Amino acid sequence: MTVHFIGAGPGAPDLITLRGRDLIASCPVCLYAGSLVPRALLSHCPPDARIVNTAPLDLDAIVAEIAAAHADGHDIARLHSGDLSVWSAMGEQIRRLDAMGIPWTVTPGVPAFAAAAATLGAELTLPGVAQSVVLTRTPGRASSMPAGETLAGFAATGATLAIHLSIHNLATVAAELTPAYGPECPAAVVYRASWPDEQLFRATLSTIAAAIPDTVSRTALILVGPALAARDFTESRLYATGYDRRYRPQSAGSPWSDWTPSDD
Ligand SMILES: C[S@@+](CC[C@H](N)C(=O)[O-])C[C@H]1O[C@@H](n2cnc3c(N)ncnc32)[C@H](O)[C@@H]1O
Repeated sequence: MTVHFIGAGPGAPDLITLRGRDLIASCPVCLYAGSLVPRALLSHCPPDARIVNTAPLDLDAIVAEIAAAHADGHDIARLHSGDLSVWSAMGEQIRRLDAMGIPWTVTPGVPAFAAAAATLGAELTLPGVAQSVVLTRTPGRASSMPAGETLAGFAATGATLAIHLSIHNLATVAAELTPAYGPECPAAVVYRASWPDEQLFRATLSTIAAAIPDTVSRTALILVGPALAARDFTESRLYATGYDRRYRPQSAGSPWSDWTPSDD
C-alpha cells in the first residue's frame, strides 16, 4: 500500500487537481486535516471508505492509523490544506513512514497565497517593482522562528511578502515592516480565500491593523509590498514587440534565435 499526500487546496472544493481527486476516489482510507480541508472533498471517497479527521489526533495516533491501513493492504489518501510544501506537517510524517518502510507519494495543491493573490487580482511579481515573493510567518505558540528569518530582514529586500499564521499579530507585523516599506506601502488581508465567506481588505501598512474586524482572527493571509497596487511598472520583455524568443522568433537563422536565458 501507499500513502498519497494530496494538497487539498485553499478551501473551494473545486480547487484540487484532477490527480488529487482521482487518488481520493481510489483510496479505501482517507485521513484529512479537519480544520481547513473542505468537507466536500470527502464526497470523492469510495462509498465504504474509512474517513478519519486527524485534527484531534497527535502524530503517534495518525501514524497508528496509517500503520493499521498498511497492515490491511490499503492505500491511503492523506489530505492537507493548500499545498504540501509549506506548513503541512508532511515532513514529520514522511520521516516516520520512511522509518517503517511505507511508500508515499506527493500530489501538489493550490496554496493559500496563490488563492489570496487571485482574490486580490494581483500579480505579485511585477517588472522593476518586485521579482520575489517571500512566504513566511511570525512565531506561534507551537513554532519559533529560526534566528535569521525576521520580518525586518525580509522587508529589507523589498520583495512581496505573504505572511501566514499571523493575523492575530497584525499590528506587530505592520510595525516591523513600516521602517523598510514606509507607512503608505500597500497591504492586504484575505480572509478564507476561495471560501463562500471570503473577505478582502485593502489598506496600507499604517491603516491595515485598524481595518480588520475582530471576526477575522484566523485563516487569513497578510500580503504586503509595492507590487500589490503598482500601476506604473514597466512591461515585461516577454511580450514586447521585436523581442526575439523561442516561440516567437524574429530573426530566423540567427544563431541565438532558439536560445532563451530563462524558461519563459
Ligand atoms: C497551516 S498553514 C497551511 C498552509 C497551506 N499548506 C498552504 O499551502 O497554503 C495555515 C495558514 O495558511 C493561511 N491560509 C490557509 N488557507 C487560507 C485561505 N483559504 N485564505 C487565507 N489564508 C489561508 C493562513 O495564514 C493560515 O493561518
